[in-house]
Amino acid sequence: MKIMHKETLADTQGIKITELAVLAPEIAEKALPGQFIVLMASEKGERVPLTIVDADKHKGSINLIFQEVGLTTRSLGRLNSGDSLYALAGPLGHPTEIKSYGKIILLAGGVGIAEIYPVARALKEAGNQITIILGARTKGLLILEKELKSLSDEFFVTTDDGSYEKKGFVTGILAELLAKNKYDLVYAVGPIPMMQKASSLTRGFGVKTVVSLNPLMVDATGMCGSCRVTVAGEVKFSCVDGPEFDAGLIDWDELIKRNSIYADKEKHICRLNNL
Ligand code: FES
Repeated sequence: MKIMHKETLADTQGIKITELAVLAPEIAEKALPGQFIVLMASEKGERVPLTIVDADKHKGSINLIFQEVGLTTRSLGRLNSGDSLYALAGPLGHPTEIKSYGKIILLAGGVGIAEIYPVARALKEAGNQITIILGARTKGLLILEKELKSLSDEFFVTTDDGSYEKKGFVTGILAELLAKNKYDLVYAVGPIPMMQKASSLTRGFGVKTVVSLNPLMVDATGMCGSCRVTVAGEVKFSCVDGPEFDAGLIDWDELIKRNSIYADKEKHICRLNNL
């Protein structure tokens, strides 16, 4: 659980995105695209789920990318190469179903870009034609552009402020592409409103859409119920039944409400801890 390498991928406008390579040979050996780990940065820290962005079986390491948004990710950001995580469990969750679908659009916003990287790579290796749409608030927050561009047959970038490539949102490009071409699958990861919008757009074109959810998790073993999500009218747990679900079947309004439950408490704790 030792941190072998740390790199700042983005640091602008008060937002910091960091990549860690962590020694975890057992996890590296078994990790598949779409799976995640849960870590504790320190003994008193909470558990946070993070997607396994890359795994190197030879080095026995896994790569994790996170944005410092709350108490735990900020304390995680304070660790350096040579430090150790307090706890690490994984790989968790169902892997992505990798097969030959045909033409696929992968869209991601913010730190969700890190989550589509292993999935895009595996889908490309399975012979799919890949269109990638990445979105960032501003140019300095765009991550993994080179890596994802090299995997794609078509590649688009949007920035909210127009500082790089097209001004606007990933869903704007998605709407244009869906109107012009036929696609067999859309895979989306990012802020909930973006995934919800992608879902409503693709429904109109009858294109199946898979999203990878990142709801609140506590135990990540299906015991606590905090990652509950309603899918096709049934209660599912993102940690053991997901993290991927058919976007068209998710109760998005409920998910939005549940995800903001602890926002005020978290801000309060960050203030108390000077984070
Ligand atoms: S995190 Fe507790 S049930 Fe999923």
